[in-house]
Amino acid sequence: MRAVDRTHRSVLGMHRTSTVASTELGFHSNPGETMDAIKLLKNDHAEVRELLDTLEATTTRALKKRRDVVTKIAALLKAHVAIEEEIFYPAFKAAGQKSDDDKTYFEALEEHRAAGELVLPDLLGTDLGSEKFSGRAKVLKELVTHHAEEEEKEMFPRAKKLLSREELAALGEQLEARKAELLA
Ligand SMILES: [Fe+2]
Ligand SMILES: [Fe+2]
Repeated sequence: MRAVDRTHRSVLGMHRTSTVASTELGFHSNPGETMDAIKLLKNDHAEVRELLDTLEATTTRALKKRRDVVTKIAALLKAHVAIEEEIFYPAFKAAGQKSDDDKTYFEALEEHRAAGELVLPDLLGTDLGSEKFSGRAKVLKELVTHHAEEEEKEMFPRAKKLLSREELAALGEQLEARKAELLA
């Protein structure tokens, strides 16, 4: 039993060493401040919320602006959903201890599916100059706002209890690297 503990500790030790090394190599713009997973995901939420507000404020005549904003929203949302589903959600699921944690996980996945597979593709396929577009943009905003709020009020605080600061920092690095790859 003790031997297992020691192995686990040395694995964590190795990981921490590689974290420091990647920071020193300049992967972060601000080496003193490694972004933890939750901070990174919340920053994404803030950025998408702002873009959705901007989109909602556009008129049926501001076609270029609409196209630019909706393209940006689509790219950011896709990257955000992907990094959550590939990295953050599985870590949350694995650390979960109660059936409520599973419920939170599966509900979040369904909301991703509704936004990413139904509402967003519909919006992207809608005439930018139509009122239908305005309606669909509003529905996407409501869905995303609701989902981000649930993550921030339920899933993230719970994740902070289930995962250590080191684990959240390591996940933050993975999220950041994968996001950069997806947005490149
Ligand atoms: Fe999400
Ligand atoms: Fe999120």
